[in-house]
Amino acid sequence: MKTSYRKDYCAKFNETFEGETITISGWCSSIRDHGGVIFIDLRDKSGIIQIVSDPNNSKDVHEIIEKIRNEYVLKISGTVRLRSENTINKNIETGKVEVLINNVEILNSSVPLPFQIEEEINADENVRLKYRYLDLRRPNINNNFVLKSKTMTLARNFFNEKGFIEIETPYLTKSSPEGARDYLVPSRVHQSSFFALPQSPQILKQILMTSGFDRYYQIVRCFRDEDLRADRQPEFTQIDLEMSFVNQEDVIDIVEELLKKIFMEIKGIDLKSKFKSITYKESMEKYGNDRPDLRFNLELKTITEIFKDTKFKVFKDVVSADGSIKCIKVNGSSMTRKNIDDLTSFAQEHGAKGLAWIKVLETELQSPILKFFSEQEINSLKEKLKLSLNDIVFFGAGDLETVNNYMSAVRNKLGEDLGLISKDSYEFVWITDFPLFLKVDDSLTSTHHPFTMPQNEVLNEANLSSQLSQAYDIVLNGTEIGGGSIRIHKRDLQEKIFNILGISKEEYESNFGYLLNALESGTPPHGGLALGLDRLMMYLTDSQSIRDIIAFPKTQKASCLLTEAPSKVFSEKQLNELGIKLLDEE
Ligand code: AMO
Ligand code: AMP
Repeated sequence: MKTSYRKDYCAKFNETFEGETITISGWCSSIRDHGGVIFIDLRDKSGIIQIVSDPNNSKDVHEIIEKIRNEYVLKISGTVRLRSENTINKNIETGKVEVLINNVEILNSSVPLPFQIEEEINADENVRLKYRYLDLRRPNINNNFVLKSKTMTLARNFFNEKGFIEIETPYLTKSSPEGARDYLVPSRVHQSSFFALPQSPQILKQILMTSGFDRYYQIVRCFRDEDLRADRQPEFTQIDLEMSFVNQEDVIDIVEELLKKIFMEIKGIDLKSKFKSITYKESMEKYGNDRPDLRFNLELKTITEIFKDTKFKVFKDVVSADGSIKCIKVNGSSMTRKNIDDLTSFAQEHGAKGLAWIKVLETELQSPILKFFSEQEINSLKEKLKLSLNDIVFFGAGDLETVNNYMSAVRNKLGEDLGLISKDSYEFVWITDFPLFLKVDDSLTSTHHPFTMPQNEVLNEANLSSQLSQAYDIVLNGTEIGGGSIRIHKRDLQEKIFNILGISKEEYESNFGYLLNALESGTPPHGGLALGLDRLMMYLTDSQSIRDIIAFPKTQKASCLLTEAPSKVFSEKQLNELGIKLLDEE
């Protein structure tokens, strides 16, 4: 009969185990031959322990040890002994002891690997993703998934205790729009028809409210075919919830309680006070976007009014084209001329035509554009911005959207470059009172999704773009980590919104008829929210990329380097069964 592979994990052993015989299994993390005596660092998921093989102890065992290479899988029995004072390793938990080997079994070998299994490595990300099984073996990456699993368990326990139930919604379903393209799956049984993978469970979770479930949650995968970035993946996970008979504050309170619990239990951070809350309008005005990083105080100021009669051509043109002039003031004592020029180039990369600036010196102002400003303009600026020595003011002028775009990027860069961001702070803020619609070219689209309840159910059709919605986002350190709303729960209002969005009756009946039928069949008032679990995990694990907290992520080009998905279909038969004919490849 075979004995078991192990009784304990490596990291358990310390000086209290001196003299005990133990059996452990794991990977050879490193091997050092000190002229006869060989040392192996054996690693399992708990940590590392040093193994010693002495040829004088057992020649047979030592001969096996000599064959071992990095990442071989080993079962080792031996005796725990204390290390001498000068060989103690303070970097590992087991650093005061080592295991004098009695027996070794090589459970598997390993080819030489493309990179070392260590926390800090120098490997290209594409190599890491191709050999993801090795990348995930690295303790720090591995730990991200331990924390992700803990967070999911915590969320589940939280919701279960509060009377929510977890209900699965299908992945093979009908399109649920969240602003991205759908991933489509062809149906074999119904040729020429397609399932859509859900961009979110939005419509079905609303329908669960119609069914009377009252409090639903789901930790659920969502699929969106959209441009990828450091915090976006084509499939990602939401902590999704929906509640009946609630208003905006009820949803906000419960999500805030969950986030506080997660930060306490995963990071040990007590987010005591109530999260800040600002309106969309205020956020756009002060920060130029709707996901402000509130770890630093810099604010944009609108100063169009000061320059309404200006002679400075750049500003004059903007004012006469109904544009905006915004500025940001920083203490520039550490900024060099090169820093200013670099910031200008940065702004230009983000759509600016230029980035005018003024610096406050001891006795005068310094600026290439000062000569164009009138006495009155300068005085108004001084008064409005409360200028003091060494302040630098950067100006952005143009149409409001463009100015907000690049001035918010400039604000974030100044925060970063001037060291204004404290690395260990977590600044949550709710953004509320979003506009119901956004104007894109000449038509309206929903700011969130078309199921969002307006603040005023009687829409002022003459001024639709000023209508506000009962939608809210939760932002952490400049990232939108969740969003939700109170929903429309009556058919006639939902139809009206579809009409306003320019969706024909035929189209909305075909795409959303099932929702409309539910809305006229006793759907209660309801609302909810979804947190982006992966984005949240980036903060909880201090990861720079969303790929570090998804076990098998996709590249920026939406492919998986490990499995090489997506891939061509090998058999013509499979395509024929689906009724699919490929266009000529050229
Ligand atoms: P929304 O589209 O705002 O709302 O999504 C909710 C949260 O999901 C995260 N997220 C993503 N994370 C990674 N990769 C992506 N491609 C990606 N897209 C979104 C974000 C975002 O805040 N049904 C609504 C929620 C509701 O109204 O209840 C929805 O999906 O953190
Ligand atoms: P120009 O007349 O283009 O040489 O610009 C004069 C100054 O104004 C330079 O410092 C530019 O960086 C700045 N500038 C030009 N266009 C803009 C703009 N749209 N917004 C802010 N500053 C600008």
